[in-house]
Amino acid sequence: MAKQQKTFDVLSVSDMCVDMILTGNVRPQFHQVEQIIGDCSIELGGSANIFASQMAKLGSRSGVLGWVGQDILGDFALRELDGAGVDTSNVRRHPTLKTGIGFALSEPDDRAILAYIGTIDATMPQHLEERLLLDCRHWHIATYFLLGNLRDTWLPWLRRAKQLGVTTSLDTNWDPATCWTGVQELLPYVDIFIPNEAEALAIAGTSEVQSAADKLAESGTFVVVKRAEKGVFAKKAKQTWEFDARRAEPPVGEIVDSTGAGDNFDAGFLHGWLNGARVEECIALGHRCAVSSLSAAGGIRGQVRMEVLRSQGFQWTPRAMEYGT
Ligand SMILES: Nc1ncnc2c1ncn2[C@@H]1O[C@H](COP(=O)(O)OP(=O)(O)OP(=O)(O)O)[C@@H](O)[C@H]1O
Ligand SMILES: [Mg+2]
Repeated sequence: MAKQQKTFDVLSVSDMCVDMILTGNVRPQFHQVEQIIGDCSIELGGSANIFASQMAKLGSRSGVLGWVGQDILGDFALRELDGAGVDTSNVRRHPTLKTGIGFALSEPDDRAILAYIGTIDATMPQHLEERLLLDCRHWHIATYFLLGNLRDTWLPWLRRAKQLGVTTSLDTNWDPATCWTGVQELLPYVDIFIPNEAEALAIAGTSEVQSAADKLAESGTFVVVKRAEKGVFAKKAKQTWEFDARRAEPPVGEIVDSTGAGDNFDAGFLHGWLNGARVEECIALGHRCAVSSLSAAGGIRGQVRMEVLRSQGFQWTPRAMEYGT
């Protein structure tokens, strides 16, 4: 199928959940103590949802595949995705599972999360139908470890993507089991691998970012390591790129909540990459999206639209635009 006839620029499996973010005096005390907290907000969560929403706001045709529960959080999740411009035609109501929830007890420098899995891991291998690959230009795995039911599916899926000329990217996000296995085998079929620094070190089994990138890039994949305020270290074959977020313009403002910074970075980076931007431009766009999301609670509320970036003087020159938005 010709590229311009495909429905999607990018598709992902959703780790479908809603985040309840509680702030101010959030350390719980048991023995029936009732304590008053500072604030509470309900936000659409899930790395793939955050990623797909930011992609859509930049102008990519993005969609997610997955499930919501037959509950008000499911209604909320669908409404938020639709509102962001994400295609939800491949999201269905689950007959039994409730929509996943993450209760984040957020303190200025740390947070604790209580997660109810529900629909987060509801997508099964049989739901990954080849028609999906045939209808997208790019496939992004937004959270490898949380999608436990798909763990063995990704290798044949990514192989098939490569055969069909669909490009791929992988952000593992954190492994709650801290085993970090299964990722290196996928890398020969991944065009862009985008972990954060701790994840890169754990997967590579090294203690330093450059040697981790060396090892992870051995299969030819483009490795982009996110390093929070330290920025980005990227490597492809023998070429490396370094970006120091502390020196970037404009400077980072007040950080309200860091949820989703990495997922928003992925969206900015990949939107640039899919449109033929130079690596430096991809990193700059990823960083702008990440920083914008730091300014508000959750991963979605602070997202930025391409027209706003342009009005702020963001310079970006797509050179290989192959489709209209
Ligand atoms: N404090 C900060 N100052 C400046 N830039 C930041 C800061 N935190 C994050 N960023 C930007 O956001 C990008 C991604 O952040 P980070 O490295 O925290 O990703 P992550 O750990 O994958 O995030 P997530 O919690 O969403 O999974 C960084 O590479 C950087 O560009
Ligand atoms: Mg991350």
